[in-house]
Amino acid sequence: MNLLINFVYVISAALFIFGLKMLGSPATARRGNQLSALGMFIAIVVTLLSAGLDYKWIILGVLLGSAVGVYAAFKVQMTEMPEMVALFNGFGGLASLLLAWSEYHQQIETSLFIAIVTFLSALIGGVTFSGSMVAFGKLSGKITQKPVLFKGQHMVNGAILAAVLLAALLFCLSPGSGFGYFLFILIVLVALGFGVTSTIPIGGADMPVVIALLNSYSGLAACAAGFVISNKLLIVAGALVGASGIILTNIMCKAMNRSLANVLFSGFGSGAAAKSGDAAAQGEVRPASAEDVYYMLESADSVVFVPGYGLAVAQAQHVVRELGELLEKNDTEVSYAIHPVAGRMPGHMNVLLAEANVPYDQLIEMDDINPRMDSVDVCVVIGANDVVNPAALNDASSPIYGMPIIETHRARTVIVLKRSMNPGFAGIENALFFNDNTRMYFGDAKESIQALVAQFKSS
Ligand code: TAP
Repeated sequence: MNLLINFVYVISAALFIFGLKMLGSPATARRGNQLSALGMFIAIVVTLLSAGLDYKWIILGVLLGSAVGVYAAFKVQMTEMPEMVALFNGFGGLASLLLAWSEYHQQIETSLFIAIVTFLSALIGGVTFSGSMVAFGKLSGKITQKPVLFKGQHMVNGAILAAVLLAALLFCLSPGSGFGYFLFILIVLVALGFGVTSTIPIGGADMPVVIALLNSYSGLAACAAGFVISNKLLIVAGALVGASGIILTNIMCKAMNRSLANVLFSGFGSGAAAKSGDAAAQGEVRPASAEDVYYMLESADSVVFVPGYGLAVAQAQHVVRELGELLEKNDTEVSYAIHPVAGRMPGHMNVLLAEANVPYDQLIEMDDINPRMDSVDVCVVIGANDVVNPAALNDASSPIYGMPIIETHRARTVIVLKRSMNPGFAGIENALFFNDNTRMYFGDAKESIQALVAQFKSS
């Protein structure tokens, strides 16, 4: 029996790994997701059948969980996805904490190794749960998005961490004593507190990075929980989530040219950073009407769309695809330039454009489009701001200095679609909007593009 279970676990693990690999490309991502879900389904069925549990509670839990999951999947908007992932991570962490607690409660006399993994599961699970709840609150605007900073904050966090490590040391040395149980509860409470105090100093806009990091933590907590209950698949699945979460965190930090320490400890978005760099943007703004933009597009041989967060807000992906098709019918070469941190979550633009059935081969990564930029006739920037801000290249005082950008300013003509001159995520002005070759086409991105589509159709 054990051999069979292990064999099925190996198949599940293989499905996770192939699924993860397929998530690397928009063309295979959907099937990759399904493959990983199949792996998890097989693993759950085999574990339940082999464990001999009281199934009525399990079935109740599955029904309740599935109902909430299905409801959320239909109701949650694309722009609310990071909040949803924050909740997923948080509940994953809570599950590891509760599992460690229940196992310890049932078996207080335990070995040093099990005591260590029990502590790790409770600590990391607790930090993940409360940290994710704060991240959820910040992203959904239920609590202030601003970094909550106070004097000596890092010292306080350092002291909390030192206290929890001391409690852990004492706990692991004698988990079976009455004092051991007291220490365990203390560790749980401090872990929950630490999740809050370490997440509140981070600005709401940096939450996607924090969520990727918490995702990694939730995997590590599950991995530790796997050791607690000696479940090999939980160890493998947890390790995969832990590793992929930290790789994603690293990719996001690199794409913003910021270190993880800067994201976690600098209080980015508190106001101080947002002010510098404003001086870079001065000059005359040249607004354009739908008709002006239509004539520019109609006579262009090549058009590159550069989507950003505003595309997601306006939900303009379907009309952009329609405009792209009309341009192609007009013998214009159309492509979409994708910046790795455009929007508010990893792969945000890929997901939106895939939803609108934009052909994958028209999506061009930043590093591939930039060398061709000088020969592009028209760049249409749709609700993007920071990811096309030349200050990242030429203003050393700018908070985004060093961040790689899509170099739209090198195209022959740039058309920027946004509602106002308001800044984007980094809170700084954008010199691109004042360039001689830039025209500002003000309005909601979806309505603006609808107007262009109407012009093309009526011509
Ligand atoms: P942003 O710099 O945030 O700019 C978005 C622009 O969209 C705004 O200037 C806004 O201007 C415009 N907009 C909003 N609603 C609109 C609508 N309905 N119609 C038209 N325009 C609209 O976006 P970006 O260029 O995509 O850059 C992303 C930023 O987020 C970067 O700074 C990045 O570092 C940061 N970030 C990204 C991630 C990930 S993983 N993607 C994670 C953390 C942080 P108006 O208000 O004037 O319309």
